[in-house]
Amino acid sequence: MASPAIDAKRVIADLRELARRTSDERGAQRVAWTETWREAREFTGELLGELGLRAERDPAGNVWARLEGADPDAPALAIGSHVDSVPDGGWLDGALGVMAALGALRCWARSGPPPRPLLFVDWADEEGARFGRSLLGSSAFAGTLDPAEVAELRDADGETLTAALASNGVVLADAPLAAERQPALGAYLELHIEQGPVLEADGYPVAAVSGCAGVERHRLRFAGQPSHAGTTPMDARRDAGLAAAETAVAVERIARDRVGVGTTGALALRPGIPTAVPGEAELAVDLRHHDPGRLAAMLSDVLDAARIAAEKRGCALATEPIWRIEPIPFAPKLVDLANTVVGERGGRPEPLTSGALHDAAEVARVVPAAMLFCPSRAGLSHAAAEDTDEADLELAIAAFGELVNRVLR
Ligand code: HGY
Ligand code: MN
Ligand code: MN
Repeated sequence: MASPAIDAKRVIADLRELARRTSDERGAQRVAWTETWREAREFTGELLGELGLRAERDPAGNVWARLEGADPDAPALAIGSHVDSVPDGGWLDGALGVMAALGALRCWARSGPPPRPLLFVDWADEEGARFGRSLLGSSAFAGTLDPAEVAELRDADGETLTAALASNGVVLADAPLAAERQPALGAYLELHIEQGPVLEADGYPVAAVSGCAGVERHRLRFAGQPSHAGTTPMDARRDAGLAAAETAVAVERIARDRVGVGTTGALALRPGIPTAVPGEAELAVDLRHHDPGRLAAMLSDVLDAARIAAEKRGCALATEPIWRIEPIPFAPKLVDLANTVVGERGGRPEPLTSGALHDAAEVARVVPAAMLFCPSRAGLSHAAAEDTDEADLELAIAAFGELVNRVLR
């Protein structure tokens, strides 16, 4: 029996409908645990309903749906990604993998049962956009989420992560129970945009992915002395803002020196007015590297630079880890199979390692996992300009469908 092929044009139409329902003039607004994110899940629920499938939510807020296989006792293949976005985000980050997975379910639901169960999954809060803790739902599934570590994280409005989950019917303390689904899975596949410039620069429409870089994400707080901007002599200041600014520039230098990436994505000053020397400053720093040793060295260098910048200005420094994950390799056999499927379609000859994080990184801890990437126009993502040529989308969706079929056999 020939394996069914995903209707890629339908997947792209579903992506455009999702964008229509959940974006505004600034981009995608599907921030996890918000009304817009719930609207996105209502849409995916409608699409599952068309196939006679019911969306089930696990104790961490991940959404699952099961298409029974000819052998219902065989380990299931799980496919999916995340429908949550960053604020002002793009139409494809996460959503592509969710809609492509729905496309694979759709073609198997119409052609007859797959050889073994096919599971759809939409992971909750992959982005960590509100509370800083990425891969929340998939780490609960993988058994690495400690509720006590995240319970008191607060968003910009001061709401705790606990309260945000509760308002969505998720009891944080129960989230680790999501790990009970681990035994049902035999493998996991995810289609995602590259979110970087490599595939476009190399001219490839699709690539296999060998794993994800490690991350060290920290909050740095500087405390100096607020004082009058007009009357405080320059050598009498304890300017927390300048200590933070010097540290942010050091993050850039250290990342370049270590051939990694370093980002100061948030910098807040208090009182934050033109007429007062900042007495307080807070940085959120995100460091990434594929090599664990170099990642540790980057973090050590950044903390040293922050201490020097603080001491130079008579400021106190407090640092706290927000979150970290070590570099995660995907399952070599699955990556090889993905690379074979990619090679049959004129894709990149060698797998890429991902600079961005993905739920597959957490899933790969407990289940063989692999990913496919398609290009990102101008390498842009986490921005409304995020886009991919339709021809590349169609080719990558077809490759994903073929990979799903080969893993199902
Ligand atoms: O941070 C990341 O790499 C992911 O997009 N959340
Ligand atoms: Mn993503
Ligand atoms: Mn993202």
